[in-house]
Amino acid sequence: MRSAQTSGTSHRPAPDGGGPCVRTHTGTDADLALLADVLRTGGLVAIPTETVYGLAAHALDTEACRRIFEVKGRPLIDPLIVHVYDEAAAARLATLTPEARTLIAAYWPGPLTLVLPRRDCVPPIVTAGRATVALRSPRHPLTRRLLQVCGLPLAAPSANPFGYVSPTTPQHVIDSMGDRIAHLLDGGPCEIGLESTIVDLSTPGRPVLLRPGAITAAQVAQTLGTAVARPERTNHAPDSGGAAAPGMLERHYSPRTPLHLFAAADRAQAALQAAASPRGAVVHFSRPSVAPSGSAAVYWLSENGDLADAARHTFALLRQLDAAGHDHVWIEQAPEGGLGDAINDRLRRAATR
Ligand code: TXA
Ligand code: MG
Repeated sequence: MRSAQTSGTSHRPAPDGGGPCVRTHTGTDADLALLADVLRTGGLVAIPTETVYGLAAHALDTEACRRIFEVKGRPLIDPLIVHVYDEAAAARLATLTPEARTLIAAYWPGPLTLVLPRRDCVPPIVTAGRATVALRSPRHPLTRRLLQVCGLPLAAPSANPFGYVSPTTPQHVIDSMGDRIAHLLDGGPCEIGLESTIVDLSTPGRPVLLRPGAITAAQVAQTLGTAVARPERTNHAPDSGGAAAPGMLERHYSPRTPLHLFAAADRAQAALQAAASPRGAVVHFSRPSVAPSGSAAVYWLSENGDLADAARHTFALLRQLDAAGHDHVWIEQAPEGGLGDAINDRLRRAATR
């Protein structure tokens, strides 16, 4: 149970935490007023969203945004998503094309980020010098209240060190960023557990899916009545004028433990390989109906094969596997289609070395 306090709880990050203690806030009116002040004066706050936890700063404050990059160890070429309360707030930062208005009406607030032509007020650090800005309106109630109270657009990447697994619980934020940030708004575990779908609408009539998420390409295509293109994948960071998103990098969301993806049909072979590894493990997509034989540790992403359940647990499991000290992990792909594509996208990147 979380207590209703305004002073926050201090946590030492695991294991030996050197820097400042992160203060955890529960979202009382006094908490939100304090956090709004922190943001107004250029500070950073870790915020809950329905997808993953974000590390937020005042999006129109270049120095505050610079601190996000420093704290995450994120290269300045990787642009940030700006979180807004609603369509009116979005319209102050970008040109809302007819396609954008249609998707906003259908999916905001929610896990859909739109890449749109930016207005001049958006500082170059946010967009990595691009002519476009990525916008989304999150639906987590605490963060919506914070957006209202502070009245600011909030730039917020996922609250993890660059390249590592995204955080889906307050404890994940404390574990990997607790010595680098001062404030965390505790909104409990994230409802979806995978980052938002990103659709580039900067070329009218040609929407492009930059990152799969809980809102599927098929849903977007149906809402717009247009096919949704997929970009070429790249391992090379584009220059600041480039069209590709650095989030499309093949290697991302990477746990320390080497991961090997396998198709459901290759379960038996994966079990043999894991058993042959000194500290191997196998992750099944759903709980195995018979106890698997062999010496390898066994995990599963979902109890009964439910995609939403698996999505919610994917990043937590990747962190758990790192903590368990396996030398190699074989992990089964999700069934293709819908949320399964978003899960497989993250697993494939996590498995890329
Ligand atoms: O669900 C989410 O979107 C979470 C929560 C916190 O809202 N945020 C998130 O942010 O995943 P981040 O920084 O981890 O991923 C943002 C992605 C990056 O891949 C970045 O390259 C892309 O958005 N992006 C941002 N601005 C862009 C732009 N103008 N054009 C193309 N891609 C852009
Ligand atoms: Mg991220």
